[in-house]
Amino acid sequence: MPEHALPSFCDQRVMRLEPPSRRGHPGMLDLSRNELIHPRLDEVIREVLGSARAEASTRYPIYRDLVAELAPHLGCAAEELEVFPGSDDAIGVIIDALGRDAPGRGQPRMLLQDPNYDGYRYHAGLRGIEILPWPPRPGTFRFEPSDVTRAMAQLPPTIVVVTEPHGSFGTALGDPAVLGLAAAACLHGHMLVVDTCYQAFADAEAAQSAAELRQSGQSVMVVGSFSKALGLAGLRLGYVIACPELIGYLRRWRRAAAVSGITMHAALQILSRHAARMKAIRADVTEGRDWLAGQVTGLQRGWRPLPSSTNFLTVDVGTPAMARRVIDDLAQRKIAVRSHAARPAFASLIQITAAPAEVLRSVAAALASIEDPSQATS
Ligand SMILES: Cc1ncc(COP(=O)(O)O)c(C=O)c1O
Repeated sequence: MPEHALPSFCDQRVMRLEPPSRRGHPGMLDLSRNELIHPRLDEVIREVLGSARAEASTRYPIYRDLVAELAPHLGCAAEELEVFPGSDDAIGVIIDALGRDAPGRGQPRMLLQDPNYDGYRYHAGLRGIEILPWPPRPGTFRFEPSDVTRAMAQLPPTIVVVTEPHGSFGTALGDPAVLGLAAAACLHGHMLVVDTCYQAFADAEAAQSAAELRQSGQSVMVVGSFSKALGLAGLRLGYVIACPELIGYLRRWRRAAAVSGITMHAALQILSRHAARMKAIRADVTEGRDWLAGQVTGLQRGWRPLPSSTNFLTVDVGTPAMARRVIDDLAQRKIAVRSHAARPAFASLIQITAAPAEVLRSVAAALASIEDPSQATS
């Protein structure tokens, strides 16, 4: 579009942002997007979609009823829950609703565990919110909670975002640390957003503490997604759990009936009728993840799988050059994995979506066949 054609209504700062998009890898085993991958998943989804009544498509969804039906499955009350077309949309609505100039608060800010899911940076950028990054300790992939609690003691009211377990590293801060952040948020008047999109792949105790977290006060929002846990990335369903007052406020900001009746039907069916099958599917995925970690360690190349509580495995292969080489080699074998090359501090990482071991055997074989330059004879 020529410059002069851009209406004065359009914000140049927004025009400079790259529109959000995901890249597909047709014809490849796509292990780059943290979707739920399992040979038995298609069968569950087909059954669930086949059971939808025509009204789920022909009638407007009645949010109030659907949310009330969903709430017990998430261990909360209907007034504590709101649904969104993906947690990505929930993030946008949270920032719209809470990241505004308010009297006495000055410029809105977001203190963000960094790296993080790109959506946070994007939605903040769109709305002109300043990002204060919370990086891992230098030379490590470990976030130190005291770094952020110290900052929280000094900042004016700020949105503080953590992803637990972490969306790039797969690691978890652990319940006591997250509850400590919630207490600090309450004490200093911040809003803590805890993104739990990968929680279903962590151990049972971690899931338990989500309830505790929610009850820790008015300064905490829990963001969740069914994209990974229930294999509904294409149907789009995310949610926020918080105290009734906050949920009531968010509800006023969300788009009307953006979640479809078919999507809600699928989620409710899976949760009420197929929970055990889904649990078994997730168990196969985490078992496959741990198997792959063992295979990587067994190569004895000094490649270091980070401890994962998610449906992916992030591996530090030592150098950005090695990461590029591994990613290119896998691509030649029609396997796509995620690169972190865009961020120099994390460019030695490769991120591989987990799946049952039978699916990951080709990945392990491909990794084993990559020549180790340190062992090459001249
Ligand atoms: C940490 C995290 N949060 C949120 C999302 C968005 O997920 P969705 O919009 O599919 O619920 C993702 C997607 O990968 C993610 O990794």
